Amino acid sequence: MHIDIVTVVPGLLDSPFSHSILKRAEDKGLASIRVINLRDYAMGKQKQVDDYAFGGGAGMVMMIEPIARCIEALQQERTYDDIIYMTPDGATFDQPMANALSLKKNLLILCGHYKGIDERVREKFITKEISIGDFVLSGGELAAAVVADAVIRLIPGVLNDETSALTDSFQDGLLAPPVYTRPAEYEGMKVPDVLLSGHEAKINEWRFEASVRRTQERRPDLLGGQE
Ligand code: ADE
Repeated sequence: MHIDIVTVVPGLLDSPFSHSILKRAEDKGLASIRVINLRDYAMGKQKQVDDYAFGGGAGMVMMIEPIARCIEALQQERTYDDIIYMTPDGATFDQPMANALSLKKNLLILCGHYKGIDERVREKFITKEISIGDFVLSGGELAAAVVADAVIRLIPGVLNDETSALTDSFQDGLLAPPVYTRPAEYEGMKVPDVLLSGHEAKINEWRFEASVRRTQERRPDLLGGQE
């Protein structure tokens, strides 16, 4: 999978992809990420990428021309399965969305800034609009990093057996069960006996029941109940 991320603040994305699982995915050649500075596609000495909103009001709006030039140049290199715009008024990101995106080959993610992008960019280029929650970030960069992380870890071969995504929270519609490691007892707090029993069927049954209980307690909405 290849992900191009277009931003006016490329520095914000310097580090998230250089560590741990995302770095391993790149090193293994399973994912590649390129951060593109929108300003490289701006015209004039000022390298202007935003302007005042027609109709007035506070805040600047990202202009269509630099974005169009950038996207059209990138489209010369590859065909994108989706051109995604990160925005608080998009569809709320969740695990099924991450699963679907992990099957794509080429993604372009456009990060918004200021008051957003000229609406005509959305009409002309954007195929998916994603929000990572009902709050407003200063820009789409951190949201794009969240989406890229959730998607890349699902690509077959990125995670090894111990970190398999199949046992993640949400992957089966339930929250993950509690986990424990050594010591088996800490200040009188004991790990449930069944987890030390070596009895795989019983352990699986305990984990499933603990998952259901945790989901009922914390996220009854996932089970079709009231939040
Ligand atoms: N840009 C600003 N806030 C955002 C959010 N909540 N999700 C995605 N992109 C954003």
